[in-house]
Amino acid sequence: MSNQLLKGKKGIIFGALNDQSIAWKVAERAHEEGAEFVLTNAPIAMRMGEINGLAEKTGSQIIPADATNTEDLENLVTQSMEILGGKIDFVLHSIGMSPNVRKGKHYTENNYQYYQQTMDVSAMSLHKTLATLYKHDAMNEWGSVVALTYIAAQRIFPDYNDMADAKSLLESIARSFGYHYGIAKKVRVNTISQSPTVTTAGQGIKGFNEFINFSEQMSPLGNAPAIACADYCVSMFSDLTRYVTMQNLFHDGGFSNTGVTQQVIERFGNI
Ligand SMILES: NC(=O)c1ccc[n+]([C@@H]2O[C@H](COP(=O)([O-])OP(=O)(O)OC[C@H]3O[C@@H](n4cnc5c(N)ncnc54)[C@H](O)[C@@H]3O)[C@@H](O)[C@H]2O)c1
Repeated sequence: MSNQLLKGKKGIIFGALNDQSIAWKVAERAHEEGAEFVLTNAPIAMRMGEINGLAEKTGSQIIPADATNTEDLENLVTQSMEILGGKIDFVLHSIGMSPNVRKGKHYTENNYQYYQQTMDVSAMSLHKTLATLYKHDAMNEWGSVVALTYIAAQRIFPDYNDMADAKSLLESIARSFGYHYGIAKKVRVNTISQSPTVTTAGQGIKGFNEFINFSEQMSPLGNAPAIACADYCVSMFSDLTRYVTMQNLFHDGGFSNTGVTQQVIERFGNI
């Protein structure tokens, strides 16, 4: 379904690793809606090569950038404006990685070097991206930056580990930068808090399968799939949401406002 909601808009999409990635679906939907964009990911992720297929399909160029490296980001922003022939209208930050999660460290025994990496990759990279866009005056007025987050920023989900702390910081950066960017250039910055979704990053979390089932039963509408998240991102990049900024927007089938469901209660009947 295409309504050409993003016709004439130019963007940068971070984080499409494979066809399960939320960013992948956003790229496909943004293309359908008439946007032009540059795809980017960490140089190491490029080696898998899958992103080339997406670039071909969406007529996009790829610029590798480690989102923790400000030189890479400078290059990405200046080159994107050259390729797209003007300023940027939308940016998707769809990046997350925790070495503590990957190496199975318990939260109470986290390695602090890893912890810093988690913060740098999963949260500070948003600040660095926004600061680079700001410095180069690279965004058009009413432009929209969206970063993906998870409800572990507000509530405890034990196996989410230091990613929970990173998501809290990410959401705070969206609010703080959203204030400054809004006043200076009328640029919007929001986070979308997505349901658990089967992707490479998602599956790295211990007990993910059990958790996704629990979440499904705790959400009146069920877990929101990646493609629906892509639709929401498209609407946030469009002109239909111009006055939405500095928000953390739950896209979770109602999970965040549900205390318990009848389905879950019934499971505890015989204990
Ligand atoms: N999958 C879920 O359950 C879920 C739920 C809520 C939010 N999210 C968030 O959605 C976003 C996308 O994750 P996904 O689930 O699509 O998984 P994914 O593994 O497909 O995407 C994560 C991406 O981060 C990229 N990345 C890692 N380090 C990087 C770096 N230094 N520089 C640039 N890119 C880097 C990876 O290459 C990958 O493309 C993440 O922020 C994640 O936390 C995911």
